[in-house]
Amino acid sequence: MTAPDTAVLDLPLRHGGDPLTPRLPLAELLERRDERLIPYRFPNGVVGWMTTNMDDFKAALSDERLHAKRFLGEPQPCPVSVSVPDMPGFIPSMNGPEHLRIRRLAAGYFSVKAIEQMRPFIGSVVDKHLDRLAQHGPAVDLITEFCLPIPSEVIGQIIGVPHDEAPAFQRAAEQTIGQRKGGKDDPEAAGQAVAKLHEILGAVVAARRRNPGSDLISHLTKADDPPLSNAEIAGLCTNLLLAGHDTTASSTAVALTILLSRPDQLATFVADSGRVAQFIEELVRFVFVIAENGATIPRLVTVDMEFAGRQLRRGDWVMPATGTANIDPSVCLHNPLELELELERDPVQHVAFGYGPHTCLGQHLARAELQMMLSRLLQRFPTIRLVQPAAALDWNDEAFIYRMYELPVTW
Ligand code: HEM
Repeated sequence: MTAPDTAVLDLPLRHGGDPLTPRLPLAELLERRDERLIPYRFPNGVVGWMTTNMDDFKAALSDERLHAKRFLGEPQPCPVSVSVPDMPGFIPSMNGPEHLRIRRLAAGYFSVKAIEQMRPFIGSVVDKHLDRLAQHGPAVDLITEFCLPIPSEVIGQIIGVPHDEAPAFQRAAEQTIGQRKGGKDDPEAAGQAVAKLHEILGAVVAARRRNPGSDLISHLTKADDPPLSNAEIAGLCTNLLLAGHDTTASSTAVALTILLSRPDQLATFVADSGRVAQFIEELVRFVFVIAENGATIPRLVTVDMEFAGRQLRRGDWVMPATGTANIDPSVCLHNPLELELELERDPVQHVAFGYGPHTCLGQHLARAELQMMLSRLLQRFPTIRLVQPAAALDWNDEAFIYRMYELPVTW
């Protein structure tokens, strides 16, 4: 690869703290943002270039010469915990017209309009879990009773996966994008968990071909120009199940921990229910739960090219990062390392959901879930509080999707 001439950043980045300090490395990276591309090295020795500002982030994600790429069988250019094997229909590592063809078939189920129509359904799932919390009484663990089951149930229903399969996709996520703290990367176990999920989905696809309903899988079985194979549908839905519950669950948990630890921000959030959508945008900008400075899937340089002031060679890697893009002066008029809900201004133009052809397919769903989960929980239980300080929570910043294992609260 093009030889680095500045200090190489050794990954993984560690925060050494708790859910309240996920932005610690950003302060350091902020000082190097003039470099535009910072060389990084993964523990497996793969070296690449990380973007530091908003313009280069967007340019990288919309440049057709950079290909999203990730598969087993060669040195992993991405965080070692991400060991989802490649499979047909798995859109994050597809490119060009093939990627677009499959992505488009699912896009209608996640558009702004479709999610608006789904709000009553999402609200009913949230309310059902709030009723359960009320029946259970204080104290409860919000991860198992609230943050994880709601996005799992919602994405499962949209796709058309029977509810009793939720543990299978939660397990597959835990062994791939959310590996246990201290656990070794185990691509074999991860591969098996994902293969199991793929098999479960394959059976659902076959059943829906015989007896279609109104879910996404049934819709995908009707594609005819050209048709999708069972394996492609199962691959796409494996992606949607993995991406569609863990990120939202973790973001909700971290956002709640921050709000419950910051009375000033909490007071602002609950005082103005008309601005919940705006508050969620600032929370999503601030609460990034994706490792390595909010990394997207690494992009492989396919031709020699000039990029961000550097000459890159075919075979180099570029990793666009949402974390530093989201503290760029162009989106932060205030202190970029602070959460500031009280600002009277339009929602921040962050890129926490990515940019370009691979921009998050589920972003409108994630927004609706976060809005309803946070605002309804805080309305229903106005005296809710953490049982222990945030610094004492079991916080895993070693996984690709940061997570907490428990969030005990009382009211
Ligand atoms: C707060 C929650 C979420 C965050 C922060 C998030 C973030 C992201 C980011 C940054 C990307 C771009 C990756 C890249 O360019 O390499 C992405 C892609 C994706 N996300 Fe999300 N996501 C969230 C929730 C969801 C949900 C609920 C779904 C469910 C449908 C979902 C499905 C996807 C899919 C399918 C892709 C790949 C799209 C493609 O390659 O065309 N995400 N997400």
